[in-house]
Amino acid sequence: MSAPRYHLTSYGCQMNKLDSELVESRLRQRGYVAAASEAEADVVLLNTCSVRQHAEDRVWSKLGKLRQRKRGEPGLVVGVLGCMAQEHKRYLVSRMPHVDLVVGPSAFGDIDDTVEVARHKNARLAAERDPARTKHEVVGAGVVTVDQGKSGDTIRRDVRVRPHRSQAFVSVMRGCNMPCTYCIVPTTRGDEVSRPIADIVEETQRLCDDGVTEVTLLGQTVNAYGRDLTGQGATLARLLRALHEIPSLRRLAFITSHPNFLGPDLVDAIAELPKVARYLHLPAQSGSNTVLKAMRRGYTVERYFARVEQLLAKAPDVELHSDFIVGYPGETAADFDATVAFLQRVGFAQSYVFKYSPRPGTVAAELADDVPDAEKERRNQVLLVAQEALTVAKNRALVGRTVEVLVEGDSKVDGRFSGRTEHHRLVHFAATDRDLVGRYVPVRVTEALAHSVVGELLPENAAEAGAHDPAETHA
Ligand code: 5AD
Ligand code: SF4
Repeated sequence: MSAPRYHLTSYGCQMNKLDSELVESRLRQRGYVAAASEAEADVVLLNTCSVRQHAEDRVWSKLGKLRQRKRGEPGLVVGVLGCMAQEHKRYLVSRMPHVDLVVGPSAFGDIDDTVEVARHKNARLAAERDPARTKHEVVGAGVVTVDQGKSGDTIRRDVRVRPHRSQAFVSVMRGCNMPCTYCIVPTTRGDEVSRPIADIVEETQRLCDDGVTEVTLLGQTVNAYGRDLTGQGATLARLLRALHEIPSLRRLAFITSHPNFLGPDLVDAIAELPKVARYLHLPAQSGSNTVLKAMRRGYTVERYFARVEQLLAKAPDVELHSDFIVGYPGETAADFDATVAFLQRVGFAQSYVFKYSPRPGTVAAELADDVPDAEKERRNQVLLVAQEALTVAKNRALVGRTVEVLVEGDSKVDGRFSGRTEHHRLVHFAATDRDLVGRYVPVRVTEALAHSVVGELLPENAAEAGAHDPAETHA
């Protein structure tokens, strides 16, 4: 019999993308092969996200299509993984008979076994419907569900499933213990669990031995890393210092940070360690103290700003990235104006803006979702425009300068490559040599666009000119 073919679609955050890599690695180790397309797969898996309604709607609609397909293909295995599996387990099990497995994000460690059980159950059901093969045992149409177990972090990564040869994500902690009123993540991903420093160093070393030179550490509140590992003195600052020792590692980033855990030890590590990326993803969510308080974010605008000033005093070349939610219950026009002013005052290099989406079961879902959608949309646009002006100004300041780019691959335009600077800025440049992918090259910036810059490739010995370019400092 030929090897079973799987197809996995990932929705949502970077943690989900990493989880999908780990799930794929495990399936390949079990002898599964990637299907060329979803239509050719024997096992269709969706690694889902619950953070906003829109993300869930995409999956519900996909599941509707898979139900149709399964009518003609009863042996097809359909699996819902990740946050929606956790959040909607009962509904999926009781109301969606075409779903064969439902696996929460903290149970990916044995995903291959779970898929196998579901697959064999389906093979038996298919045989039962085939009168020529009646001797097969008949089993119930139960759904295979797993909530908790081994996390996927125990899985050894298969180099073939990594999208980039020289870049990798490493999970350092799972879950979140913060009380943000709007957020479903603490429910779907559970309490904070940090991995020991030694495990993370070992995994990172192995990745670097495989050719990785840029590592991004992942955690929902990555800078709270280690607080559950009592007595071990594990902090993100210590972890960064330990990883920094790996000789072939060149860039070390971490996402996502919470403003409350940006302490002096972390500031010092960022300032002192040259391999640490020169951007910090530090979501503010709002620039109004009333809204921040309602969200239970645990800081004020003043405190956020003071922390940023402490960071920039020691590491002036670091750029700030943020997330904002617009239209939180009770957000007034004045609150929103304060957010715009705050975004401009900090001078973020990049922001993601989200319209508030009530998540059932959260504290905020009990409040009236009283900002009309049209107004949410307007605020969303206004904030994006304000951010774009900042981003473009920063990009313009780079024109004429040389930056060091880690080449990620071809850009969508023919004959162009793209990559990122140590500030995570996207750079496009013309080149023909495929071997550039995975290398660090100097590029002179010639043009600033809204979300990226364009430049020309320089001879490789010009590389040093880009390091810690003063033009890339925070405004
Ligand atoms: N509605 C809108 N945006 C949300 N986020 C989290 N929960 C919600 C919600 N209910 C945003 C936050 C977070 C990002 C990952 O998603 O800005 O930082
Ligand atoms: Fe959600 Fe807040 Fe935790 Fe971020 S810190 S994952 S917004 S609860």
